[in-house]
Amino acid sequence: MNTTKLRQAPLTAGDPFHADVVAGLSRPQKRLSAKYFYDAAGSQLFDRITELEEYYPTRTELGIMRKHAAAMAGCCGPRVMLIELGAGSLVKARLLLDRLDRPAGFVPVDVSGEHLEEAARQLARDYPKLPIAPVTADFTADFPLPTIPAARRVVYFPGSTLGNFEPAEADALLRRTAALVGPGGGLLLGVDLRKDVAVLERAYDDRLGVTAAFNLNLLTRMNRELDADFDLGEFEHHAFYNPARSRVEMHLRSRGAQRVTVGGAAFDFRAGETIHTENSHKYDVRELTARALACGWRVEAVWTDPRDYFAVLSLVAEPR
Ligand code: AVJ
Repeated sequence: MNTTKLRQAPLTAGDPFHADVVAGLSRPQKRLSAKYFYDAAGSQLFDRITELEEYYPTRTELGIMRKHAAAMAGCCGPRVMLIELGAGSLVKARLLLDRLDRPAGFVPVDVSGEHLEEAARQLARDYPKLPIAPVTADFTADFPLPTIPAARRVVYFPGSTLGNFEPAEADALLRRTAALVGPGGGLLLGVDLRKDVAVLERAYDDRLGVTAAFNLNLLTRMNRELDADFDLGEFEHHAFYNPARSRVEMHLRSRGAQRVTVGGAAFDFRAGETIHTENSHKYDVRELTARALACGWRVEAVWTDPRDYFAVLSLVAEPR
């Protein structure tokens, strides 16, 4: 008879965050998913990033939206069901909602149910006649849409969030989105463009150290939620542009050789070894147009800012 006691399972076993962290830290190049940045503290730090002088994407995209919202709403057409992926503060969506012709409904989709419900409540106060149906879901997988009769479905995917996905994942998301809206449906897509490397690198390594704090907060989150023992003084923020992959990469670099445990499991770091925490892909409009075409979309319109830092594209799903 086997008398060995079962080892106590860690408190966080079963938790997808725990499973992802253990798998990510077990790879030759240690890796964590950027989606875990956004706990309460991380979301607040991100809001501060968007206000930094060096971080141009948010205010550039807002400028494009303010200037061209009427044309974008025109692309959506009357009686549209507008579906926003990764609904953050809903500031940008309001610019569209203000100009839509008798919108059929607004469906913000986000993994953070609490954040979403609160944002939807605030929105409902300002748009009392608009049907608002928030969906708590991970939009990187299929999710059910509420049944709202509408002339057309349009997905709004701002913020260059697409840039967090590897090219193959981004293509899969574009294909799934085309299926979601159906032939003739639309996609309003905000993407960050390639530009001077110094401008890019400054945007992800600001003087006030807010982006560094945002990156390091992942360690704090693992310490708190996964019973890990990362020493924040032993890791540093590292961000650089990778021209071969057209992306800014963020890493957390171990200052010295050290051992860290996560819920009892040990992970060793060499001096200078990194955890790769984020990719932020930068696009070229012509290349993206070609890729969108291969994923079932045609490009109807492109709006940019005077410096060509950022672009918002209106895409239409082709018949299958
Ligand atoms: C929210 C993914 C668009 O990539 O610029 C900002 C996140 N990371 N600073 C980006 C981020 C570091 C941001 N996205």
